[in-house]
Parts: sequence; C-alpha cells; structure tokens
Amino acid sequence: MSTPVNVADYERLAAERLEAGLLGYYAGGAADERTLCENVAAFARQRLLPRVLVDVGDVQTSTTILGDDVALPVLVAPTALHGMAHADAEPGMARAASRAGTVFCLSSLATTRPSEVAAAVPDGRRWFQLYVLKDRGVSRALLDEAVASGFEAIVLTVDAPRAGRRERDLRTGFAVPADVDMPAIRAAVGAPRCPTPAEFFELVDPTLTWRDLEQLVDESPVPVILKGVHAADDARRAVDHGAAGVIVSNHGGRQLDGVPATIDLLPAVAAEIGEEALVLMDGGVRRGTDVLVALALGAQAVLVGRPMLWGLTVDGTDGAGNVLELLREEVRLALTLLGAPTPADVGPHHILR
Ligand code: FNR
Ligand code: LAC
Repeated sequence: MSTPVNVADYERLAAERLEAGLLGYYAGGAADERTLCENVAAFARQRLLPRVLVDVGDVQTSTTILGDDVALPVLVAPTALHGMAHADAEPGMARAASRAGTVFCLSSLATTRPSEVAAAVPDGRRWFQLYVLKDRGVSRALLDEAVASGFEAIVLTVDAPRAGRRERDLRTGFAVPADVDMPAIRAAVGAPRCPTPAEFFELVDPTLTWRDLEQLVDESPVPVILKGVHAADDARRAVDHGAAGVIVSNHGGRQLDGVPATIDLLPAVAAEIGEEALVLMDGGVRRGTDVLVALALGAQAVLVGRPMLWGLTVDGTDGAGNVLELLREEVRLALTLLGAPTPADVGPHHILR
C-alpha cells in the first residue's frame, strides 16, 4: 500500500503486520462484537448540518480541557501493552501526543512505568488510567507514582470489574510473551512474570462502589475523571461524588456486548452534566467528521484507542503522530466546511436530529 491517507489505511497496514494473537487482542471486542461494530455504525448514521456564510478564514482546532489548551479535540485513550506493537512503546505514544499538542493517557497495563514515561517525554501532557485492584496498596502505589511523575489527572476505569468475553483471545490463546513486561503491575503484585490481560483482571477489585470514588477524589491531588460511564444518572452521581468529569465509553466494545454505541449515549450525559463538568467520549472515532459529531452532541473532546495502536504498530512514534496529524487535518477541514471556526463553536445546530 502507498502512504496511508486515513485511519482505515493504518488499520489495514497494522493488520498485515501484527501476529494473529496480538491483532485479535487489539482489534477484538466482547462476545458477538455487536457493540464493537455499533460504535462505528452509529457514527455512520449521523448527519452533520453545515451553516453557511460564517467567516472560516482562520479555523483553529485547539480547545480547552480541564483549564489547559489542547491543540486538537482528540486525546489518546489508554490502551494496554504498547511494547508489543512497537519498540517505541508508551514513550513513543506519549511523544506523538506531545508533538501533536494533545494529552496522552497511560494505561495501568503499560509496558513502561509512569515515571519512565515522564522522564522520556517531560513536556508532554499526560493523564494516568487507574484500575483499582483488590490489593489497594498496589493501586495506591501506582497513583502515587503517577502523581509524583506529573500526571495531571486520574482516569478511573469503572466498566471492567472483570474482562469481557473476548472470544478472539480464547481462540488464539493470546498471552503476553516472556520478554514483554508490565513493570509497574508486575512489581506491585510481586509476580515473577507478567500477567496476561485476562489474568490481570483477576486482580481488579469488583467490589468498587461510589464510596470508593469519593475516597479516591478525597485522596487524589489531581482531578479524577470517571471512564466507562453509560447512563446519564451515573454521570450525575459521578459529579456529585467529586469527579471532574466523565468519559462516555463502553471500552471500545470490549466489555458488555450489546450496550449502545457511545455516540448514542452521549447526548443524555451531556444534557445532565455538560454545563458543570468535563464530558468526553470514546469508541468508534475514525474520522474528523466523527469528532465533530461528538462535539455537536455535547462532548468537549474525544479519545481514540485503536487508531493510535494502528499508527504505533505501523511506524512507531511517527506512525502514531501521523494518525493524530491526519485527524487534525480532517477536523480542520470539517470545521471549515461546517461553518464553525473553532471546536467550541460546534453545537446542536450543526447536526440533523
Ligand atoms: C483498551 N481500552 C482500555 N481502557 C482502559 O481504561 N484501560 C486499558 O488498559 C485499556 N486497554 C485497552 C487495550 C486495547 C487493545 C483496546 C482496543 C482498548 C479501552 C480504550 O481506552 C478506549 O475506551 C477504546 O479503545 C475506545 O474505542 P476505539 O477508539 O478503540 O474504538
Ligand atoms: C483491555 C484492558 C486492558 O481492554 O482494559 O484489554
């Protein structure tokens, strides 16, 4: 294939390169993958509504998230095991995000420690995704390391008390090879070798409740964002319990199969808390026009998961960076053609209801 010109090109190239087990882990969803497909299909059903005779001589893609600027309304979602995609691993992904002027969210299941990511890319904006484990000391240590390493927010993932039924992984017997490490997790749980994602989820505390969120918010010196919110009522409770915002997410269709596409859940969440808290979404964003649909339906920005893994797989830091550049240019063009000079100008009047 010639030079990739969009996310789908990166996906095809990555699929050619990855061995079957890792490809299935990255690409796959839960059970019949209805939600996985629906995340993308639901965007395809949306119709943007351009407004004309708006001065679009100077279109800017930048916006403000938690009080700080990002150069585009696209953040890097937390995804596991970057070291298996490419030797550039999490520092490469963080560098790509930093060069693009956006936030990198580091997964708890990273092949690089939070402190190492910070040392490799000191200037990059970074958030840390936390799984609360049965051994609370382990989660506490991860949180402390992230905060000490300049991570600006904690993204608490709450849609995965257990892993979803990922049948691609069952078929391939996906396992993490002996030479791949998740140092923070392995060291913290005292395991001699790295757990597979499936084994990892055995360590996650399934008894977590709103009280734990409140406690985390109390203990955390940085804002806490709740990831994996579906229902508007839960978004309300998240804010009432001190969260700075939510990520409307179904984990990229990897957890409970059959739940709605996130873009279909977003409007109710935004209506409930959008005036007072940060509302982000992820799942199925593959185009700049998808980003604009999410903005029109009430998100302040989106996160992308798999597209970044495809970029990293194909060409390390540069590939991940190019995925963000492609999305940035698509967002810029779509803003121009929509008649919205900045992401903040995109609203409900830009979508056909
Ligand atoms: C994820 N996701 C995820 N989420 C999280 O909170 N912690 C994690 O460690 C991971 N790991 C992970 C690995 C892989 C391979 C994928 C595909 C996803 C979910 C991720 O943050 C995000 O919610 C989805 O990826 C968004 O959907 P798209 O952009 O992949 O369609
Ligand atoms: C996953 C985990 C690690 O989706 O969040 O595989």
